[in-house]
Amino acid sequence: MTEIAISPSAYDLLKARLSHEPHTWLITGVAGFIGSNLLETLLKLNQRVVGLDNFATGYQRNLDEVQSLVLPAQWSNFHFIQGDIRNLDDCRKAMSFSPPTQKGMQTIPVDHVLHQAALGSVPRSIEDPITTNSTNIDGFLNMLIAARDAKVQSFTYAASSSTYGDHPGLPKCEDRIGKPLSPYAVTKYVNELYADVFARSYGFSSIGLRYFNIFGMRQDPAGAYAAVIPVWTAAMIDGQDVFINGDGETSRDFCFIENAVQANLLAATASGSAARNQVYNVAVNGRTTLNMLFDELKTALAANGVVYDKSPIYRDFRAGDVRHSQADIGKAQRLLGFSPRYDIRAGIAQAMPWYIRFLRTCS
Ligand SMILES: NC(=O)c1ccc[n+]([C@@H]2O[C@H](COP(=O)([O-])OP(=O)(O)OC[C@H]3O[C@@H](n4cnc5c(N)ncnc54)[C@H](O)[C@@H]3O)[C@@H](O)[C@H]2O)c1
Repeated sequence: MTEIAISPSAYDLLKARLSHEPHTWLITGVAGFIGSNLLETLLKLNQRVVGLDNFATGYQRNLDEVQSLVLPAQWSNFHFIQGDIRNLDDCRKAMSFSPPTQKGMQTIPVDHVLHQAALGSVPRSIEDPITTNSTNIDGFLNMLIAARDAKVQSFTYAASSSTYGDHPGLPKCEDRIGKPLSPYAVTKYVNELYADVFARSYGFSSIGLRYFNIFGMRQDPAGAYAAVIPVWTAAMIDGQDVFINGDGETSRDFCFIENAVQANLLAATASGSAARNQVYNVAVNGRTTLNMLFDELKTALAANGVVYDKSPIYRDFRAGDVRHSQADIGKAQRLLGFSPRYDIRAGIAQAMPWYIRFLRTCS
């Protein structure tokens, strides 16, 4: 495995500090891909975590898997609330931790919010803009209000690279965006606008993380709206055809989940005022075409004893997709101390054994 950085980083120092210093965190969308990975990391660092999810696209199995990966004492630091961010009461309830095992113990207020719950997927938003809008905008506003009223220390939310829309510049810099290309992109941009207005109107600060194609363990390979890496990996393991939308030269800055977890923890605990009320790209500054990705996945599968010998099938470009995406990550490096550890190859190498295990168990 090739790790990009090996010297102790701001993230190493933060993890060392946190493991002796329990904070209370709220993760919305905790049963989803990114949320469950945040949960695993925080519980392993002996943090208290409240999780909120309505299982719209998340799974109990993700929570079960995290339980199997942490110590029983660490799992007892997790309090799950099945609820909906479209319901303000549910958001308010999630702002304190009720110890599940110690009856009579006082509830503990949440320090840090990591707001991940949303309906992802550009095609889903094109088919059903109303549900995407109510979850991603109404739900987001509810979370801002609940977090503001609970006076949490930090509010970090999942923004998106889709906000760059039709801006042709590469690499993407945070302050130069174009017009949104999908209803999903509109919702994620409105999140940033609301976050900014809450800082101006109420002095409530937050940090938005513009994720660029995050991938890794527990990313759902099933369903019409699944992301490219899990879909192709599942097809290859199953010996099925792999479809490439367009000519295969569409490019993305694929970012392994561990890098995104790092960005969240650094953002939540960032103390300098210059770092707050900002949005940051979360990626690795890489540029991988879909044709290159196909080869990377084939090679990683072969290294795990799975041979895929079919060629990809090319079909039409997909509506709403941006052509190229590559992040400038200088701002996150400078202001947050972000230092992504995994490039795409190292990330795929980490994720592949999980996919093989998971898909074989499912079939
Ligand atoms: N994965 C990526 O590459 C990527 C890229 C850009 C932005 N994002 C954003 O990151 C966040 C997490 O994405 P993910 O990939 O983990 O997706 P995911 O679908 O695996 O997780 C989202 C979680 O939110 C939950 N949820 C949805 N609606 C809810 C509601 N109304 N109330 C409570 N919970 C609700 C779902 O059940 C799910 O568990 C989302 O905000 C997404 O828009 C992800």
